[in-house]
Amino acid sequence: MKTIADLAAADDGRGLANKRLFIRVDFNVPLDKKTGKITDDARIREALPTIRFAMEKGAKVILASHMGRPKPGKHEGLSLEVCGDRLAELTGWEVHVPDDCIGDAAKKVIMDLRPNQVCLLENLRFHPEEEANDEGFARQLAELCDVYVDDAFGCVHRAHASVHALPLLVRDRAAGMLLERELKALGKVVHNPEKPYVAILGGAKVSDKIDVVEALLGVVDALCIGGAMANTFLAAQGKKMQKSLVEEDKLPLARTIMEKAQSRGVKLVLPVDVICAEGIDAQAGTVVAAGAVPEGQMALDIGPKTVDLIKNELFKAKTVFWNGPMGLFETRAFSAGTLDVARALAKIDGFTVVGGGDSAAAVKVAGEDVLKGIDHISTGGGASLELIEGKKLPGVAALEGA
Ligand code: 3PG
Repeated sequence: MKTIADLAAADDGRGLANKRLFIRVDFNVPLDKKTGKITDDARIREALPTIRFAMEKGAKVILASHMGRPKPGKHEGLSLEVCGDRLAELTGWEVHVPDDCIGDAAKKVIMDLRPNQVCLLENLRFHPEEEANDEGFARQLAELCDVYVDDAFGCVHRAHASVHALPLLVRDRAAGMLLERELKALGKVVHNPEKPYVAILGGAKVSDKIDVVEALLGVVDALCIGGAMANTFLAAQGKKMQKSLVEEDKLPLARTIMEKAQSRGVKLVLPVDVICAEGIDAQAGTVVAAGAVPEGQMALDIGPKTVDLIKNELFKAKTVFWNGPMGLFETRAFSAGTLDVARALAKIDGFTVVGGGDSAAAVKVAGEDVLKGIDHISTGGGASLELIEGKKLPGVAALEGA
């Protein structure tokens, strides 16, 4: 797979100067529901090295992204203008956002680009053809550019037009710096991870993580499970979880996973204590043993003894992959498990990777030192999981053999 640096260095006159360079970025940033303002601009900041590099090489930069999952005709609150404003604030560049990502208006903006100006196309998913990986739509995008760079790691697992069909139509195509960095870091975890290898999985549902659990059981030495998904395992062990979120239909699956872990010699660390309360709006909780959730209450975080068990595994580890919070970490009373795991992760010597929006957000809440102590924080939740699962990613496949 070529990189943007390879394209820039091409000595056959095909470098980047004056080229219309289409950069697929992932500006699908979280927005405040009430104000519509960006609550975390990490994805924009992480794309800056590639964009800056392209600008310095004299390319005419066309940025393209999706935002949210718009329903046909329902575009309200999902314009990329808010990202254009933030990009302008961060860089001092003039950012032009044409009304549509294809057509004459976009072509004109691109043609008129001057130094220190970039074009950010409007939300690609305003056209349903984007998600349908439609070749006709990809051809319309291809008309806008000479060169294609994918720097949207968060989207490489999507076979969508701007990620898959479009690059196949462009001869000069390559990976951007963020994509390169993500693939390198996650590659270290997927291919021959240094042992002991410990994975920590959290989040709401076992059903979202079946494939990744299957894949991890083949490689890890210990698998620690927290978050609401742990409830299903505890219920499968016969514990009364009361009002806790439990996927009743996944109890047999949880049993199978526990058996597989045992037969493969993988240590499965499940909560031995939890913090519980009457509901998700509660502002305080009580620590109880995992099998002693009081009637009318639900488990909302892992307890301190469980944190210690996870820490024990972490301090032995040479490689760690973490995805998904350990509890309802947005609420202070139920954030300790997730934050303590983040702090422990930052202290260990092994190679540590965090993937997934919520766990990445938790690391940020834990503070600057924790952030610095973790080797790689992925910008892609779904994409990092699919890599760990060993799946072929359409966006990566489309860049190979260029
Ligand atoms: C993400 O947020 O994980 C990426 O931007 C992909 O978004 P999607 O899950 O809506 O395809």
